[in-house]
Amino acid sequence: MTPNPDRILIFDTTLRDGEQSPGASLNVDEKVTVARALNQLGVDIIEAGFPYASPGDFEAVQKICETASEPESPTICALARAARKDIEKAAEALKPAANRRIHTFIATSDIHLEHKLKRSRKEVLEIAEEMVAYARNFVDDLEFSPEDATRTDPEFLYEIIERAINAGATTINIPDTVGYMMPREFGAMIRGIKENVPNSDRAIISVHGHNDLGLAVANFLEAVKNGARQLECTINGIGERAGNAALEELVMALHVRRQYYNPYLGRPEDSQEPLTNIDTRQIYKTSRLVSNLTGMMVQPNKAIVGANAFAHESGIHQDGVLKNRTTYEIMDAQSIGLTDNRMVLGKLSGRHAFKTRLQELGYDLSEDALNKAFLRFKAFAAKKREITDWDLESIVNDEINQPPEYFHLELVQVSCGDSARPTATVTLRTPSGEELTDAAIGTGPVDAVYKAMNRVVNVPNELIEFSVQSVTAGIDAIGEVTIRLRHNERIFSGHAANTDIIVAASNAYVNALNRLYAALPQEEADRAQATAEPAATR
Ligand code: KIV
Ligand code: ZN
Repeated sequence: MTPNPDRILIFDTTLRDGEQSPGASLNVDEKVTVARALNQLGVDIIEAGFPYASPGDFEAVQKICETASEPESPTICALARAARKDIEKAAEALKPAANRRIHTFIATSDIHLEHKLKRSRKEVLEIAEEMVAYARNFVDDLEFSPEDATRTDPEFLYEIIERAINAGATTINIPDTVGYMMPREFGAMIRGIKENVPNSDRAIISVHGHNDLGLAVANFLEAVKNGARQLECTINGIGERAGNAALEELVMALHVRRQYYNPYLGRPEDSQEPLTNIDTRQIYKTSRLVSNLTGMMVQPNKAIVGANAFAHESGIHQDGVLKNRTTYEIMDAQSIGLTDNRMVLGKLSGRHAFKTRLQELGYDLSEDALNKAFLRFKAFAAKKREITDWDLESIVNDEINQPPEYFHLELVQVSCGDSARPTATVTLRTPSGEELTDAAIGTGPVDAVYKAMNRVVNVPNELIEFSVQSVTAGIDAIGEVTIRLRHNERIFSGHAANTDIIVAASNAYVNALNRLYAALPQEEADRAQATAEPAATR
């Protein structure tokens, strides 16, 4: 990789820093699914995880690497503290990838040195230098981050960067760990590094930032103007606290305003050559995938991927857009992969038409997933006259993003109304094929269903979030339910879609319970099942 690429490299950390959002945790298969989507999106580097953190993280990085074994595959990166054991684990997990990067970091601000590391600056300099050199024994592509760089004394920062580059770092990442920077300040900091670190031209300067003041994207764009050539970001901006810089916002800003940014990359102002390698038409799909799997809903007014991002409500705006879209639109909804939601299929459509339309929408399903999705489509088509592109995406996402199935919803039945006590009966099938039935009364039909399910599953949990969204307008619209529940301080999400909102809510809950069950230690799962049985056989 050349130290000064002629475009902006997109480094996606959804699976590492993004997954650190409370409750966003993904299982190994889900991480592989997201990595495949990031590959299709065209990201240059996928930070797949922190292998030393847990066996699950190690396995996920390794499995993602197995899907990236071709020379043209994206680079897979693994995080490691500046410590031998971390670096060795990262190197081992990365082996199956064709293009590998280790990302090692150590904090450099006095606040972190004094209170967290309890080390002197001299010690930190030595550790950084030694560990960068050590990591280079395993990979040619090595990224070094001085954590909390933006609160680090600039002179010390310059010194550690220079030493890291001399020791073999090929990318230097500047993290605004606590989201403290103002855009101009951040830009000046990047310029300061370029001007004051004598060997800075031997490494790519990258930026990483959190959104505590809502400025991460603005900071990055200012950094680009001052020489940063790699942006570390996440899908939907998920991440620690207020999240990370959002990939879709950065990419679309660089796309829509490329004439503004071209000169900063030494290009003619009117150059049409894309500034990033991202296939922008994959953005919406990837955003939906990440929000469905993590249960982290996208706010409706979120830039680029929010439900209202391309909606025009006021009469004046609608009138303008009908006359000419550019009156109130700076980008085309199709450029991020939003289709015009045509009515495409109905109950008479066959498997071939279904498969062809999915391929046109960018879904390349395995035979098995296609068969399952087709069966589900047929069931929907029997209830809903017109199946649109958005419906199709919802059906497919729902089918391919299922967690390992411990419980399967066999039956849900509710009785409710203004003069009835909401009552639900549910039957869940267990892995051994046994069917467990129970019933409960609740404050409403969904509450009654969840209470009945909890009687069957018998693992204490607290529902902390419940949301319903309709995929399209109309009385027969598909409703999508996303929920999050908490068990022992861990959060598990569930997502499901159906034309019947109670069925969607029930499946979303089963989905989350399956995730919870997969995370339970074996004895706890056995105990729950053993005690569930008597209550459920009545
Ligand atoms: O925010 C941060 O400082 C990080 C580093 C590990 C790069 O995530
Ligand atoms: Zn971070």
